Amino acid sequence: MARQFRLRPAPGVVDEVPSGLEVTTLDRRRFMKYTFNAAGGVIAMVSLGAVGFASFLMGQATTSEGDTGVKYWVPKGQEDTVWYGNLHLEIMKKSDLVAQAATSDTGMAGAQGVWSGLPINIIYIPHEENQSKPPSEGVPRIQYGGGYDSAGAFVGHGREIFDVTLEDGSPDDALQPHDNILLLFSRCPHLCCIPGWQLVANDFTSDTWLPGGVDAGGNKLFCICHSSRYDPTMLEKNSNRNRNDGSTFEYFGVKRTGGPAPVGLPLIPFVVTDDVIEGLDTYQEWYTFCD
Ligand code: FES
Repeated sequence: MARQFRLRPAPGVVDEVPSGLEVTTLDRRRFMKYTFNAAGGVIAMVSLGAVGFASFLMGQATTSEGDTGVKYWVPKGQEDTVWYGNLHLEIMKKSDLVAQAATSDTGMAGAQGVWSGLPINIIYIPHEENQSKPPSEGVPRIQYGGGYDSAGAFVGHGREIFDVTLEDGSPDDALQPHDNILLLFSRCPHLCCIPGWQLVANDFTSDTWLPGGVDAGGNKLFCICHSSRYDPTMLEKNSNRNRNDGSTFEYFGVKRTGGPAPVGLPLIPFVVTDDVIEGLDTYQEWYTFCD
C-alpha cells in the first residue's frame, strides 16, 4: 500500500466535487489572513498593481460545481500585453490554455489568476506529448527532482507525489500531474510578493526551455520584487515554515532555481470539469508560509 502523506486539512465547509473527493472552502477571514498580513500584504498589493483587493473578496468563482473555479486576474496596466488581457475575472478553461500554448515556441502557456481569493499561477506544459522524448530534444515536460529545505537538508523527491493518498487510501489524483496543467499558489516564499508568468521581459521569462530544473533558459515564473525564479516544470517535495507561529509543513511544488526565495511554490490540487479548471483546497497548510 502506498505510503500516506497526510497534510491536515483546515476546518471549513465541506462540499462534494465530481471526483467524490471531499474539500473544504476558504472563507474570507482566512483569505484576509493570507493576503493582507503585515508587510507582505502591502508588497502583494504593489506586485499586483494595487488593483482593488476587495475584488478578490467579491471574486469567488461560481461554477456549476460550486465556488471552486479558477479565474483569470489581469494586473493593472497589463491589459494589452498579456494574452488573457480581456479575460479578467473570467473562469479559466483548459481550452484557453491549449489554444494559447499552440502559439508558443515551447507549447507552454501560463496565466495569473485567483482561486477562492488566493493568487495563483496556472501553467500548461505539453507533458503528455513530450514525456517520452529524450532531454536532448529540449522540449518541455514535467520533471521530478530532489527537494532541499532552506538549510540545504534533503526533504524528499518529486516522484513521491505519486504516493500521496487520501484518507481512505485512494490516490490523490487531483494533486498528481494531469491534463498537462499545474496550478500553483503564487506567494513568493521570500517576502510574499506574487510571482508572475511573463509579466516582465527578460531571459528568465522568454519562451524557451531547458531540461534539468536549471536557472538558465526561459519560461520561469519570475518574482519582480527581488528576482526569484521558479521552474514550473520541475516538481519537488520540500518544506516551508509558517513565519508567524514557526510551524513547518511539507508540500509538493515547483523548484526555486534562483534568487532569494528559500524554496519553491506549492501545488494546488485541481480537477477539470467540462473544460472548467476548479481548485481543491485539500492542503491548506501549504499556503500559510506568509501568515
Ligand atoms: S518577494 Fe519575491 S523575490 Fe523577494
